[in-house]
Amino acid sequence: MDFGLSEEQQLIQDMVKDFAASEVAPIAAEIDRDHRFPAELLPQMAKLNLMGVPFPEEFGGAGADNVSYVIVLEELARACASTSVIVSAHTSLCTWPIFAFGTQEQKEKYVTGLASGEMLGAFALTEPGAGTDAAAGKATAVLDGDEYILNGSKIFITNGGFADVYIVTAMTDQSAGTRGISAFIVDKDAPGFTVGEREHKMGIKASSTTPLYFSDCRIPKSALLGQEGKGFKIAMQTLDGGRIGVAAQALGIAQGALDAAVAYAKERVQFGKPIATLQAIQWMIADMATEIEAARLLVYRAAWNKDNGLPYTKEAAMAKLFAAEVSTRVAGKAIQIHGGYGFTESYSVERAYRDAKITELYEGTSEVQRLVIAGATLR
Ligand code: CAA
Repeated sequence: MDFGLSEEQQLIQDMVKDFAASEVAPIAAEIDRDHRFPAELLPQMAKLNLMGVPFPEEFGGAGADNVSYVIVLEELARACASTSVIVSAHTSLCTWPIFAFGTQEQKEKYVTGLASGEMLGAFALTEPGAGTDAAAGKATAVLDGDEYILNGSKIFITNGGFADVYIVTAMTDQSAGTRGISAFIVDKDAPGFTVGEREHKMGIKASSTTPLYFSDCRIPKSALLGQEGKGFKIAMQTLDGGRIGVAAQALGIAQGALDAAVAYAKERVQFGKPIATLQAIQWMIADMATEIEAARLLVYRAAWNKDNGLPYTKEAAMAKLFAAEVSTRVAGKAIQIHGGYGFTESYSVERAYRDAKITELYEGTSEVQRLVIAGATLR
């Protein structure tokens, strides 16, 4: 057993830390306040190979492993959770399923464009009536000659309006339950496809979250991803990987909140000495650091399983469940340590607290993770 990072993982961590500190952290508060999608970061991240970390170089990726990928998401989230989710939705939820299930032509066209950062990706499963019950989607896809006609709508789509490519699930056989759902690769300019208004969210405000509308939207037959009827399984397998990414995001938010709390506790003087000397503060710091370390072990282990061809459905769910709940707790304690100042927008812990909450909700609520874990444990 080896708990150390490889030389390559260490190099990637150093590189992304530098990038996050110099380019992301300085704008994080501003883009959150203004709900501004940080489009200027995308070419910079593409240049550093951060838009396709776990894909082979021949497809435009960095050729690194999934442990490196979670390190990237963690370090980005430590500075800015919005930036982290832009990268994780793009990588885990759009590029990965095309890489895993696409034809050679689809991979050459899309994985290469996405992993190199020339294109941005998104994933559209959720519908107004199909959130946790992902199989209840009503969007349809009907084959008409050599085209599919898509009808229906999707909601809460990360990178909506900024993505060039969307993975979209729709029913191709309404009588077959989850086996009647198929997945498609939809280009942003497909006729009949429109993007709705951005949501006004509690956190991750710089990331774009929109509905999508399909009205007799025609896409070529070749846009089918995998086989007809395999879309639900593709979505579930995609989410297994996506959940490791969200867990890494939660971990980074928590680490960023701890960093801020430690710095503040050392400089804030009350009763004539820094509050870091007070046991009440030290106990909170100790609990935060311990929980973060436990979360990190789960997150890295889930990514390591994926790298080593081992099952990771349960491990991803455990990592996401634990890291997300740790993130919210740690961010809450970071505010507690800051006292009233932590409740103001002048300190980053306020943003961390709002950003942490989403990690308990998207890519499966904590209750869904418990369902998955219980199912695997009781089987
Ligand atoms: N891997 C492979 N196959 C899987 C699977 C997995 N992890 N999970 C389920 N399946 C398969 C099952 O084996 C079954 O296959 P068969 O037909 O061959 O038997 C089929 O899928 C149906 O499985 P279930 O009966 O378990 O499905 P269900 O309808 O009971 O759903 C659920 C289970 C876990 C609740 C699922 O609906 C779920 O994960 N819900 C949460 C959805 C979710 O995470 N949404 C996030 C949206 S994306 C988002 O948030 C992104 C963003 O923008 C950042």
